[in-house]
Amino acid sequence: MENMRKVHIKTWGCQMNEHDSERIAGVLLENGYQLTEDIKDANLVILNTCSVRDKAEHKFFSEVGRIMDLKKKNPDLLIGVGGCIAQQKGKEITKRTKGVDLVFGTRSIHEIPGLLDALSEKSKHPVNVAEHKINTVSYPALRKKGVKAWVSIMYGCNNFCTYCVVPYTRGREESRPKEEILKEVQGLVNQGFKEITLLGQNVNSYEMDFPALLSYLHPVEGIERIRFMTSHPKDLSDRLIDAIAELPKVCNHLHLPLQSGSDKILNLMNRGYTYSEYKRKIDKIRDKMPEIGITTDIIVGFPGETEDDLNITMDALRDVEYDNIYAFKYSKRQDTAAEKFDGHLPKDIKEERLAQVMLLQTEITTKKNKGHIGLTVGVLVEGVSEADKCRLTGRTEANRIVNFTGHSELIGRIVNVKIINANLSNLEGVISKDE
Ligand code: 5AD
Ligand code: SF4
Repeated sequence: MENMRKVHIKTWGCQMNEHDSERIAGVLLENGYQLTEDIKDANLVILNTCSVRDKAEHKFFSEVGRIMDLKKKNPDLLIGVGGCIAQQKGKEITKRTKGVDLVFGTRSIHEIPGLLDALSEKSKHPVNVAEHKINTVSYPALRKKGVKAWVSIMYGCNNFCTYCVVPYTRGREESRPKEEILKEVQGLVNQGFKEITLLGQNVNSYEMDFPALLSYLHPVEGIERIRFMTSHPKDLSDRLIDAIAELPKVCNHLHLPLQSGSDKILNLMNRGYTYSEYKRKIDKIRDKMPEIGITTDIIVGFPGETEDDLNITMDALRDVEYDNIYAFKYSKRQDTAAEKFDGHLPKDIKEERLAQVMLLQTEITTKKNKGHIGLTVGVLVEGVSEADKCRLTGRTEANRIVNFTGHSELIGRIVNVKIINANLSNLEGVISKDE
């Protein structure tokens, strides 16, 4: 066993990237590698990078420095860099960070074994950041055992929001054939997974038609819940709203990124909708499903954003009353249109605006969570609570976290829990007597 090849994978960024790491692990497993949690134990370290904001990029470059120290002690250690920074910067990475052995892009995961071979043959630094199609390449993901699994249904993005680097790091949209997605989902049932989250930058532009894909996957026995992300508001159709309402396994939760409440900023962002168009869709959704959980993404400090624009965004937050938001400071990204816009704002203004938005949302989320006290909700039990090992944790359909006392036998089952207390980030409950 001494010669066992071991890989340690470190991941930054979104679910898409987390899932790509599962695919990287799957590909390497087929090639004789074993995963290790301990970086010191590894002979290959893979860094799966994110470039959505400046901060993620900095974290990567400082991590590389730390890993180089390990390499000094163990010169045989191989270092591979993948993900969004790799795709965008390609060869530059091997120049900027001496000691990186191979670089692969977001569409080259299946090429890793070939890159490793090339490395041993030529002792060069192979780079593959091709933008070629991958939808016909089916490669296995190695998932941690559990209740929830991610499934990619499409790659890339065609929207070119002016702030966003994703079209440059993940290329053009490409949908996976529905038969392949179905096969993967059926396989997940055999591995004990109960919930799937269909992933894509903009699932509503899935080629075959997204509501039809939901209906196609819905009958798979053993899958109890289906989630999806992310939806682009401009492409959210009435048929999708109907599908969420009518298909029982499709969870009552929608993540619908607003980004800004100001039409002027939405236009500068190239989002393709106005606030009132967005709000009309929200109203329609809530008319049909009053219990639905709605979450969003907000960017503050976009170039040209005034105090007025910020106030309009804050009004939108009061108006919609999201269950939760993910708020970010605008971060200037290489290659994007907004990089060249006038009116970039200083860091302290962006920070101050972010703080205002977060404070407001804290109030709203807390109020909404408190509104659940006394209700009985269905919770898919995911495991033991991190914070309190004696308790179980799970989520409601609307994606609220619920902690409660119960036997670990319940993991993987949907149980009714009566909510007795509410915090900012979770609800607390007791198993309902009828269980
Ligand atoms: N700056 C700040 N936030 C960004 N996001 C995407 N690009 C940027 C950027 N340049 C946010 C958006 C998106 C989420 C995934 O990340 O809100 O919805
Ligand atoms: Fe995900 Fe975007 Fe980060 Fe790439 S840049 S890992 S797509 S969040």
